[in-house]
Amino acid sequence: MERMLLLISLLLGFFVSAFSYNVPAIFTFGDSIFDAGNNHYNKNCTAQADFPPYGSSFFHRPTGRFTNGRTVPDFISQFMGIDLQKPYLEAQIEVVNGSQKAYPSNGINFASAGSGVLRQTNKDLGVTPIQDQLLQFKTLVEKNQIDKRLVQQSFFFFESGSNDVFNYFLPFDTPTLNPEAYVQAMLTEVGHFIEQIYQLGARRIAIFSLGPVGCVPARSNLPGAPVDRCFGKMNKMVKNYNMGLESLIKDLPIKYPGAVGVYGAVYDIVQLFRAIPSRYGFTNVTSACCGDGTLGGIVQCGRDGYKMCSNPNEFLFWDYFHPSEHTYKLISKALWGGRQSRIRPANLKFLANITLD
Ligand SMILES: *[C@@H]1O[C@H](CO)[C@@H](O)[C@H](O)[C@H]1NC(C)=O
Ligand SMILES: *[C@@H]1O[C@H](CO)[C@@H](O)[C@H](O)[C@H]1NC(C)=O
Ligand SMILES: *[C@@H]1O[C@H](CO)[C@@H](O)[C@H](O)[C@H]1NC(C)=O
Ligand SMILES: *[C@@H]1O[C@H](CO)[C@@H](O)[C@H](O)[C@H]1NC(C)=O
Repeated sequence: MERMLLLISLLLGFFVSAFSYNVPAIFTFGDSIFDAGNNHYNKNCTAQADFPPYGSSFFHRPTGRFTNGRTVPDFISQFMGIDLQKPYLEAQIEVVNGSQKAYPSNGINFASAGSGVLRQTNKDLGVTPIQDQLLQFKTLVEKNQIDKRLVQQSFFFFESGSNDVFNYFLPFDTPTLNPEAYVQAMLTEVGHFIEQIYQLGARRIAIFSLGPVGCVPARSNLPGAPVDRCFGKMNKMVKNYNMGLESLIKDLPIKYPGAVGVYGAVYDIVQLFRAIPSRYGFTNVTSACCGDGTLGGIVQCGRDGYKMCSNPNEFLFWDYFHPSEHTYKLISKALWGGRQSRIRPANLKFLANITLD
């Protein structure tokens, strides 16, 4: 009997060391690429995906996620063996109404679809800008509603900027800044975000680059954007912004002692899918699976007159702006276990396994 117990505990010990990581939670900030349903709980917000057929391939119901299934923070949570994070606004309702005693210990998702790193981006849609997402987190830390030790161990995911860049090309409200100055203004905000999140205790910080935003089907709404290829001017701004993000990550260990930062090269990962679609299981890397109009980019999925393809996970794009779950899964695998060309100086699997003091 005793020998049996010893064997069991040895086996358990093996599984624990082989399959558990030093990261108990993920705190996520950003836009619709990461939003797990915050906008749904924000009744004042018109950027929504809380209706069918969003969520239809995995959750089999709309969750507020802007895709047919899981997003990157969901996949990474599954790779780490932790539960998927709730939207902050859902967790808040549950704590306020007493159905939950405390905020979740597996992290919180603060991302809000339509938001940007510039405060004014899509303000009229009622979105939560990155600065306010940070304030929501800050309030929880300051009121001791999140454990400081948990914050120190957790992953911090940041992905934002697509909406700022896309809106630069909208026909009304032409920005006064030139493209370079606009990108610099964006990077200044990201710099502030990193500084504050560090001061609040974050130590494992992952910044993800923008994908090729100039290739989204919704570009067909913009004057001067080509339909037969990506919008080069937009992708040029995206690349400049991404270079700035990477240098923020390079400076991070010098400016912020004890912190470890990684840069996920999502742009390059997605360009590989577009270059050799069949290798990655795609049959269509240009149009939205769900939507209508040119490239499926004019009508939002689920809105009046939309059409849906029969094979969503063979499409790079699920709707006018957003990748399919299949695309997110491939991106997640590259970020989790990929080489330096995908994420650097280390991948998320490595970052989850190191110990911090
Ligand atoms: C609290 O809010 C949650 C989420 O909206 C809901 O499911 C639950 O029924 C509410 N509980 C009470 C006691 O009102
Ligand atoms: C709702 O959105 C409008 C902008 O459309 C904003 O002026 C107002 O302050 C928002 N209200 C709340 C309660 O957030
Ligand atoms: C991609 O899908 C759209 C919508 O179903 C279709 O119109 C288009 O021809 C497809 N493109 C390719 C290259 O198969
Ligand atoms: C995790 O760390 C341990 C020792 O700290 C090491 O033996 C193991 O190979 C690491 N695993 C990964 C996936 O890096």
